[in-house]
Amino acid sequence: MAAKTTPEEATTTSAPAAASPAASPGPPLFRPGLEGVPATQSAICDIDGHRGVLTYRGVPVDQLARNSSFLETAYLLIWGELPTIFQLNDFQHEVQMHRRVSFRIRDMMKCFPASGHPMDALQASAASLGLFYSRRALYDPQYVTEAVVRLIAKIPTMVAAFQLIRKGQDPIQPRDDLAYSANFLYMLTEREPDSLAARIFDSCLILHAEHSLNASTFSARVTASTLTDPYAVVASAVGTLAGPLHGGANEDVLDMLDQIGSIDRVEDWLDQAIASKQKIMGFGHREYRVKDPRAVILQGLAEELFVRFGHDTMYDVARRLEEVAADRLGPKGIYPNVDFYSGLVYRKLGIPRDLFTPIFAIARTAGWLAHWREQLGANRIYRPTQIYTGSAERPWLPLESRPASS
Ligand code: ACO
Repeated sequence: MAAKTTPEEATTTSAPAAASPAASPGPPLFRPGLEGVPATQSAICDIDGHRGVLTYRGVPVDQLARNSSFLETAYLLIWGELPTIFQLNDFQHEVQMHRRVSFRIRDMMKCFPASGHPMDALQASAASLGLFYSRRALYDPQYVTEAVVRLIAKIPTMVAAFQLIRKGQDPIQPRDDLAYSANFLYMLTEREPDSLAARIFDSCLILHAEHSLNASTFSARVTASTLTDPYAVVASAVGTLAGPLHGGANEDVLDMLDQIGSIDRVEDWLDQAIASKQKIMGFGHREYRVKDPRAVILQGLAEELFVRFGHDTMYDVARRLEEVAADRLGPKGIYPNVDFYSGLVYRKLGIPRDLFTPIFAIARTAGWLAHWREQLGANRIYRPTQIYTGSAERPWLPLESRPASS
């Protein structure tokens, strides 16, 4: 595949001069969670949280989910434009050629505890790619292109490999005649997937591919800003995505629906949860004041699957919960987010619950790589300040002089 433009060439805008901290009167403002604080300039993704519109490089995500493929969407995100037919074929071919992972990495994965969470296995495996390919030639376009291809190609193989390894089996090799998503499902289940299932899974990847400066992407950009290698960038983002307030919520949604059990229990369960200040998993988002547009599309995809493969009564519980929550949480702008219906789609596809977040990571690798390139294009290391709340300067005391109770 031809090398792409260098990170420097990719930057077209220059940052406006930042206000001098020395010029601002008083102590700096502290916003927990950096809410509302711009931490970068980005041309990758835009969210209109009031209208519920999400665009990748200007293209609405619903159009991509309907018409595009994950690899085409990844290309758009990472290189900035929809590919020509030649560019797309080339990218697909390169990704297909790099799907296999070294036997050394597979052997390493065999040493992981089978009871470990697949996100931890993925974080370790992604970082291990750096042992093989890290040259940190960040301004060599060929290196950048190869790193993009390798990560997009190998992350799904590593997720599928751990799934088989923890069941005591050997991972199976990718199949060259299968497209990206179909091949992943094949490597995971050892069966060639139904074409509708593969198409819907591919749409899920598109919907999870990018979402501006969320926690894992911010983590990717901070890591990128140190000029470390892209494998470390993705590994750090995987670790961040794993938490239950971020990507990990999709597992918790099904646990919550299990706990509710049936539609007649929804109202009481929700009232009790709200009274005890419990967070409702799959609801709420820092950016959206309406239902997450990805949740709308995922709900439609779930319904398509139910028509083809049979209904899921857990979906009835979810819909009832959404209905009741609209009354209780809607006035605060809290509606279903991307995680609310994605688990129901994956469950219908027969995917184990603890693989939902690793699948999220497969998709989000595209967004992380887009941000990696963008960060390098106008890099300045992240080094925010803090407001110190500890004790005033004081001397070290010898042990015998310290108060007994401290
Ligand atoms: N259930 C109940 N109340 C909620 C929820 C929720 N899911 N989300 C927010 N709220 C309430 C809070 O209790 C708080 O109310 P208060 O002002 O009366 O105290 C208010 O809304 C603001 O909540 P914060 O937690 O401060 O909102 P923040 O923007 O920091 O958090 C987050 C966003 C983390 C997504 C939050 O909504 C949440 O924890 N949701 C559940 C977990 C989840 O679904 N995460 C996946 C998010 S999507 C993703 O990362 C891929």
